[in-house]
Amino acid sequence: MAILSLSGISKNFGAIQALDGVSLELNSGEVLGLMGDNGAGKSTLVKIIAGNFKPTRGTITIDGQEVELHRPVDARNQGVEIVYQDLALCDNLSAAVNVFLGRELTKGVGPFKVMDYAAMNARAGELFRDLRSETRPRDMVRAMSGGQRQAVAIARTRLAQAKILLMDEPTAAISVRQVAEVLNLIRELKRQNLAVILISHRMPDVFAVADRIAVLRRGRKVADRPTASTSPEEITGLITGAIESL
Ligand SMILES: Nc1ncnc2c1ncn2[C@@H]1O[C@H](COP(=O)(O)OP(=O)(O)OP(=O)(O)O)[C@@H](O)[C@H]1O
Ligand SMILES: [Mg+2]
Repeated sequence: MAILSLSGISKNFGAIQALDGVSLELNSGEVLGLMGDNGAGKSTLVKIIAGNFKPTRGTITIDGQEVELHRPVDARNQGVEIVYQDLALCDNLSAAVNVFLGRELTKGVGPFKVMDYAAMNARAGELFRDLRSETRPRDMVRAMSGGQRQAVAIARTRLAQAKILLMDEPTAAISVRQVAEVLNLIRELKRQNLAVILISHRMPDVFAVADRIAVLRRGRKVADRPTASTSPEEITGLITGAIESL
């Protein structure tokens, strides 16, 4: 059974129709590459799954249950986490504290509660090891590379026991080495049976990690196929409209 199923999702912003009847299925342990030109509706689609926007029409089913996501916390409660390009981490705090931001571990009781940094460092260290990331819990985020920052953002989602991870352009603004790191993180999440939607304009990244590629054009889904049975040329044609649909 699909962990995520979208059926006939449409979204209007006033006169603009950002999405037009998009249906999509995603299984656990599967990476879906979501591609399309600027303004095609990719971010709008993942924001709907993350509870940032309500669809104008259509239904969302998670783990067999139809859900209404009014706010991001509703999506989070359903095991949906989103990692944005700008990552929203606190530069002046350590990696471990960022991982636990908003759900800090404490020790002691009542008014004598204090932060349990040792426990947070230990647990964050485990999460980074699980992700095969070299990020160290005590390092300040300020001094981290783009790839290490992503590891922190992803470790947060592991703490939340996410089932579905949405990534909007995670490799757009980082160096070649960091891209490799992020692609490895995605492979590791797949091994841990998460379902991942990866939005990217970067064809090599999508072909490196996606099991399946869906293409949006002007708010419509024009293709959805196994990566193994398509090619970058075909996907480019679908994105631009040179190929109508598949
Ligand atoms: N909050 C909003 N209010 C009004 N219009 C919006 C809003 N968000 C998106 N749109 C419009 O919806 C359409 C789809 O935008 P969206 O951001 O989903 O595209 P995208 O595929 O993510 O593009 P890009 O590759 O540039 O990130 C665009 O026409 C955009 O202008
Ligand atoms: Mg976008």
